[in-house]
Amino acid sequence: MKLTTLRALGVLLCLGLAGLASSCTQSSKKPTLIGFSIDDMRLERWARDRDFFDAAATKLGAKVLVQSANGSEERQVAQIENMISRGVDVLVIVPQNSKVLGNVIREAHRNHVKVVSYDRLILNADVDAYISFDNLKVGEMQAQGVVNVKPKGNYFLLGGAPTDNNAKILRQGQMQVLQPLIDKGDIKIVGDQWVPDWNPTRALGIVEDALTANANNIDAIVASNDAIAGGAVQALAAQRLAGKVAVSGQDADLAGVKRVVEGTQTMTVYKPLDQLATQAAKLAVDLARGDKPAYNSHYDNGEKSVDSILLQPVALTRDNVDKVITDGFYTHAQVYGN
Ligand code: GAL
Repeated sequence: MKLTTLRALGVLLCLGLAGLASSCTQSSKKPTLIGFSIDDMRLERWARDRDFFDAAATKLGAKVLVQSANGSEERQVAQIENMISRGVDVLVIVPQNSKVLGNVIREAHRNHVKVVSYDRLILNADVDAYISFDNLKVGEMQAQGVVNVKPKGNYFLLGGAPTDNNAKILRQGQMQVLQPLIDKGDIKIVGDQWVPDWNPTRALGIVEDALTANANNIDAIVASNDAIAGGAVQALAAQRLAGKVAVSGQDADLAGVKRVVEGTQTMTVYKPLDQLATQAAKLAVDLARGDKPAYNSHYDNGEKSVDSILLQPVALTRDNVDKVITDGFYTHAQVYGN
C-alpha cells in the first residue's frame, strides 16, 4: 500500500475517533517532510545552501532529508525515487541534468508530492515552482564587470555546464552586454567553450589551450562562476598573466572573494544564499500545506509557464567586496586572514 494512502487512512481513523484518541491530534500535526536533492554538495556553495535551507525549514517546523548526487544524473533520479518512497511531502531539487527528470516528477505527482526547482530550472517537466536568482542579470553583471576594465580587446567566453540551464541563461545575459561592442568592433570573441560539470580542472585545460592558440593574446575571460574562474586564473598565473587579464566569476566562493581582494579576479557575483534558501523553505512548506506562495515571475520550461520567485544578485569588485563581511557571509579573518 502506498505511503500516501496509509497516511490518508490514518487521518480518517483520527476523524472517526475524534475525542477518544488524543494521539490523533499529534499525528495530524506531523511536520512537513521536505526532500532536498542537490546535484553536487562537494562544491562550496551547495553545502551552504543546505545549511541555510535546513535552518530555515526547521524554524518553520518542517524536517529535511538531504541527498547529494555528487554529479551523477542516474544517482539523482534514484535518490529522488527513494525520497518519494520515504514519504516526503515536497521535493526541492537542484537538477544535475535539467532535461532528464520528467519521469521521476510524474512519479512524485502520482504520490501527491509537490516539486520545487531550486536555483536551476528543470526543463520539460511539470514542476510546481521555481526559485532562483535572476540569472540573466548575473550574466549581464559578469560581462559588464570585465568590460568596465577592458572595454576593448580579445575576449574568451568560459561557460558553465552544458547540462545546466543556468549556464545558457548566463550566456544570454553576457551577450546582451557584449553583442553591441562586438558589432562596433571593440571586442573580438577569440574562443567560446562550455565546461562540463563546472569543473575547475577542465576549465584550467581549456584556458591553457586558448592561451596557446592565441599566443597569450587574450584580454578578458568571461567566466560564468568562481569555480571555473579559479581554473582560468591558474592557467593565467602559469603565463604570468594573472591580474593582467580581466576575469569574471559568480558565487562569492571564499577562494573567489580572495582572488578579487588580491586582484587576480576582476569581479564575482554575490548571491545571498540565506535569502534563497529561506524563501525556498517557505515556498516548499506553503506548497505542502496548500497555501499560496508569493511568486514574482514566470519561466517557460518547455512544458509550461512555471510560477517563479527570482531574487536579485549583487556584483562585487574590490571596491565593495567587503559586503560579504558586513552581511555575515564570511568573517573578516576568513577573507583577509588573521
Ligand atoms: C549554477 C549556479 C551557480 C554555480 C553553478 C555550479 O547553476 O547558479 O551559482 O554554483 O551552478 O554549481
